[in-house]
Amino acid sequence: MGLSGHQSAAMKNDEWLTPPEILAKLGQFDLDPCAPINRPWPTAEKHYTVHDNGLNQPWSGRVWCNPPFGKFAVSWLKRMAEHGNGIALIPARTETAMFYETVWGKASGVCFLKGRPHFHFVNGKRADFNSGAPICLVAYGKDNLEVLKKSGLGVVVNEVI
Ligand SMILES: C[S@@+](CC[C@H](N)C(=O)[O-])C[C@H]1O[C@@H](n2cnc3c(N)ncnc32)[C@H](O)[C@@H]1O
Repeated sequence: MGLSGHQSAAMKNDEWLTPPEILAKLGQFDLDPCAPINRPWPTAEKHYTVHDNGLNQPWSGRVWCNPPFGKFAVSWLKRMAEHGNGIALIPARTETAMFYETVWGKASGVCFLKGRPHFHFVNGKRADFNSGAPICLVAYGKDNLEVLKKSGLGVVVNEVI
């Protein structure tokens, strides 16, 4: 089963970690507001977990956001758009209300990943199956758009505002 099958299981499992080879191309982040409690590697200088509820915490600096999927994902992306500095990873469902509310007209640019990534389990193991859905990285702020352009991770569309 692909990742999208797991995602559609109404947030039963949020713990799909970003492949480290993707993070390695994106530079250092100051904050990951939605990180696992026990993580195999850091994704930022500072992490909030479900115990903190990252949505209720102050955000500062350059933010990495691979949000819990499902109906709450839009709240995380809205916060990213308000914050205006960072990169988010979401399914490339470009026609959805979430994309229109938080990406089109709000972000600085979008990188559509080449191929489907294999996410990792919280123990660090790479899943045998791929995401089962197209994935994109959304830049908020011009500097983050430049990072996406240089990343080589996929096709970058800018001027989405
Ligand atoms: C898709 S995973 C991404 C993990 C990590 N940020 C990464 O990129 O590898 C989403 C994470 O959000 C965490 N999470 C869920 N609800 C949260 C909340 N209210 N506050 C902070 N973290 C939360 C989950 O435990 C999970 O680790």
